[in-house]
Amino acid sequence: MILKNKKGLILGALDENSIAWKVAEQAKKEGAEIVLSNTAMAIRMGNIDELGKKINSPVIAADATSVDELNDLWKSTLNHFGSGVDFVLHSVGMSPNVRKRIPYQELDYNFLNKTLDVSAISLHKLLQTAWELNAINDEGSVIALSYIAAQRTFSGYSDMAEAKALLESIVRSFGYHYGRKNKVRINSISQAPTNTTAGSSIEGFGDLYTFSEKLSPLGNPDAQACAEYCISLFSDMTRGVTMQNLFHDGGYSSMGMSEDLMQEIEKCLMKK
Ligand code: NAI
Repeated sequence: MILKNKKGLILGALDENSIAWKVAEQAKKEGAEIVLSNTAMAIRMGNIDELGKKINSPVIAADATSVDELNDLWKSTLNHFGSGVDFVLHSVGMSPNVRKRIPYQELDYNFLNKTLDVSAISLHKLLQTAWELNAINDEGSVIALSYIAAQRTFSGYSDMAEAKALLESIVRSFGYHYGRKNKVRINSISQAPTNTTAGSSIEGFGDLYTFSEKLSPLGNPDAQACAEYCISLFSDMTRGVTMQNLFHDGGYSSMGMSEDLMQEIEKCLMKK
């Protein structure tokens, strides 16, 4: 019960594969009370209502790119708990360029704006609206989900790479301001490839998944493992950690080559 008496807001649970779904379930198990949110469309198309019933949490519709809707979300959350929240999960991402398989060299700039707004600037909007309403308690913890394409080029990740780089920068910049004001800590978790709706929309996801799996000494940690890592960062055990991008990738980010991957490549060369 590491989150006993804590209250949290979780954005981005769509279905049982979503990382946010696993985080919500695990946070509940650890004693927290939760408010869930997603877009009205995602609530209609996904199963989030089912999750809400299971963990006894209200589900509140909000588009994370709309300041007005985020304001309403915070007000409803404050009203529900009768106080601010102790933790926030931003598990939101989407690129129309990726969805429509538009090559990186031919990006549609309206779509690029949308990618950046949904996948990165929404974190700033979420924090700015929280700041104005004093909606995050002192020593609260905020996590956003990122990917290593913020630092290195992955051919199929397209403009989501720019979005993740911006997201990680917002984590640092807002982490400074919120840390000084309320000792609120803000970190991103750079998660391994994970089989979810957002993950599998990336071109070549299956190969990317196998590549990471073979390169990392621990293999790809799954959504449940990611959820458990999130819980540790929401807990008081990590109250000195802020403004960090934390790799949760089984060691992938420190690897150059592994025996497993080499064997895989040899197998492919033998076939030729
Ligand atoms: P998911 O598809 O289950 O979750 C993405 C969520 O973003 C959905 O619930 C969707 O409704 C929500 N969303 C999209 N537009 C929104 C908007 N305008 N307002 C509010 N919510 C909106 O997939 P997953 O994998 O759980 O994604 C969660 C986060 O993890 C994303 O930021 C993703 O980029 C990140 N991530 C995922 C990895 C993967 O391989 N699946 C790897 C590293 C990071």
